[in-house]
Amino acid sequence: MLPVVVVHGGAGHIPKDRAEISYVGVKEAARAAYSILRSGGSAMDAVVEAVAMLENNPVYNAGRGSVLNVKGEVEMDALVMDGRTLASGAVSAVRRVANPIRLARLVMEKTSHLCLTAEGASQFARTMGVPEVPEESMITDYARMRWKKNLDPDTNPMECQTGKMGTVGAVAVDLEGNVACATSTGGMTNKMEGRVGDTPCVGCGGYADNHIGAVSSTGHGETIMKVTLSRLILFHMEQGKSPEEASDEALAYMKERVHGLGGVVVVDPKGVWSAHFSSLQMSWAAAQQEQLHYGLYHGEDFTEPV
Ligand code: GLY
Repeated sequence: MLPVVVVHGGAGHIPKDRAEISYVGVKEAARAAYSILRSGGSAMDAVVEAVAMLENNPVYNAGRGSVLNVKGEVEMDALVMDGRTLASGAVSAVRRVANPIRLARLVMEKTSHLCLTAEGASQFARTMGVPEVPEESMITDYARMRWKKNLDPDTNPMECQTGKMGTVGAVAVDLEGNVACATSTGGMTNKMEGRVGDTPCVGCGGYADNHIGAVSSTGHGETIMKVTLSRLILFHMEQGKSPEEASDEALAYMKERVHGLGGVVVVDPKGVWSAHFSSLQMSWAAAQQEQLHYGLYHGEDFTEPV
């Protein structure tokens, strides 16, 4: 099996002067995850590592750099899913954890539950010995500026959704043909306290099944949840569509039915992959056969050696 990893840094509208920076993190994450796969690591190890790297990168809306809720606090959501067994783990509205994606994996591996939320998730993190990080260390000047701007009743809300890279995620196939997905986010800027988006919900922010493939989604959470975007794409693949065709069909349905825009990265168990979006942009990178592909705008597929 030819291993492959596909990473995204969020769908949305990124100004031209920030385009370059949006490529850098996803390319680094794809390279690191590919190196894990090439040396025999599991698809799960690869996607968690890729997403943890993006959570550590303040450019993206996940981990450090997350957007703020209406009270000016960071509340994060994350999901992992293992295509071998359909086991999954998630955390929602979790605070003061550097890498929610690693905590989501611990939920999957160490509990009999699928999702822990808010204080319960923090309590579990403490039990697992995950260090608590000061909230201030997770907040960037950029996130605070957007939060303040959005509190101003004269601000156009759409203006505040631009200029920031979004939710991060990854899908992979390993040497044994196993698939996995991981997705992590700070959610929507100025969201209500306790709001849970699509990311930690199985079938919405991601899905992985060795029989079909794996998906990680990004975009407006409430509309993604209405159409269970990730599982919808796999449904189309079950009907014989390729990852590209299935993504196109599901994103077109979401646009037409609930006026939602977004983006996805998808793999099938044979290693066929897609990075597809209906939003203006989505930063993405894919590594396979010693080649790194990446892009931001529609139609872009730059290639360089891994
Ligand atoms: N897709 C991220 C969110 O809406 O929370």
